[in-house]
Amino acid sequence: MRLFLLLLLPLLLLSAVQIGAAAAAKAPAAAPAASNLTDLMSRKGCRTFADLLLSTGDAAKTFQDSVAGGLSVFCPADQAMKAFLPTFKNLSADDKLSLLLYHAVPVYYSADSLKTNNGVMNTLATDGTAKNYNFTLQNDGEHVAIQPTAAPAAPARITATILDRDPLAVYVVDEVLQPREIFKPVAAPAPAPAPATAAAAPKKAKPAGPDAAPADQKVADQNAAHRVPSGRWLTAAAAVALAAAAFAVAA
Ligand SMILES: *[C@@H]1O[C@H](CO)[C@@H](O)[C@H](O)[C@H]1NC(C)=O
Ligand SMILES: *[C@@H]1O[C@H](CO)[C@@H](O)[C@H](O)[C@H]1NC(C)=O
Ligand SMILES: *[C@@H]1O[C@H](CO)[C@@H](O)[C@H](O)[C@H]1NC(C)=O
Repeated sequence: MRLFLLLLLPLLLLSAVQIGAAAAAKAPAAAPAASNLTDLMSRKGCRTFADLLLSTGDAAKTFQDSVAGGLSVFCPADQAMKAFLPTFKNLSADDKLSLLLYHAVPVYYSADSLKTNNGVMNTLATDGTAKNYNFTLQNDGEHVAIQPTAAPAAPARITATILDRDPLAVYVVDEVLQPREIFKPVAAPAPAPAPATAAAAPKKAKPAGPDAAPADQKVADQNAAHRVPSGRWLTAAAAVALAAAAFAVAA
């Protein structure tokens, strides 16, 4: 019985930690005063983005003036924005402004309503008539992501809520959103070559050097490599069982 409990203990602890994390994630975001939007973003992990808003044309003013009518901001986390700075500095003044305005939607979407909304959204960069500077909101009911019209090929994920109080919501995203109007779409990555094709390739195609192992040997090596993880798992499981048994004996 004791042994059973000891084996169970790590699992119980793990689920307790997970439940705690889920509860923390669900807790309503602290609601600091949103009198100054750039100050708010600076303090909550989007300092680089906020600084760019202040230093680029009337970007900060456009954001601030849009709050009253309802606004959802998706600010790139500092790490992502900093990595993007060389590319940003290379843009024309117009494109810089458009890129920044692309990170806000002139509608207030609460965190809950984001989870039930899918589809194309216009941004502050969208001009009145043209269907441009939009992005697509995607979610699986739990995680919310944004697919820009160009790079990155993978959607940007919403990683935190800075503020969610009508008429303003501010979310942190893990990528800079790159509109098709400024950046060329990224080509889909080339599929990895299938191992079967490599094995079927004629041996003559390989350079016959001292390092070149026969094709059969390479296939065998690959199979061995694939088996390693399960072996490790078994070893780890055995170690846990041994440790638990040792505790049971000592107790
Ligand atoms: C917000 O604060 C920054 C300095 O932190 C200032 O430059 C900007 O004008 C302020 N914006 C508003 C709308 O008060
Ligand atoms: C800046 O623009 C030039 C010319 O368009 C380009 O060759 C260069 O790669 C760009 N640099 C970055 C960091 O995007
Ligand atoms: C979104 O913008 C793209 C251009 O980037 C345009 O081709 C498309 O029609 C727009 N979609 C909608 C629904 O407005």
